Amino acid sequence: MGLFSFSSIEVDGQQTIINAADNNLVEVAQHLKINIPAPCLKNRRRDGCCKACLVEIDGKRDYACSTKPKSGMKVTVRTKELDNIRKTSIKQYKQNIKDGNTDACDCSC
Ligand code: FES
Repeated sequence: MGLFSFSSIEVDGQQTIINAADNNLVEVAQHLKINIPAPCLKNRRRDGCCKACLVEIDGKRDYACSTKPKSGMKVTVRTKELDNIRKTSIKQYKQNIKDGNTDACDCSC
């Protein structure tokens, strides 16, 4: 990569640069002040997987917390449908914690 080349990514129609320190799409979206809820990422998946960080990447649904940012990706966060799915996932995640129904995450996310 040349000194002046950089990678950019689009989140909800806005461009931002990918920094070397960005591990996943949750962090990249923060550059643009776009919040992707990621409760299980924040607590190091001690209580399992929340699935609350669902986004669309180039038109396909995937989890933002486990997706490494790549140049040219187009990420969609805010749609009514995704908002609803995320809301349900957060509720379920919180309920699982309340019920003590949690296990450390063993999925690939
Ligand atoms: S932040 Fe929980 S699955 Fe992505």
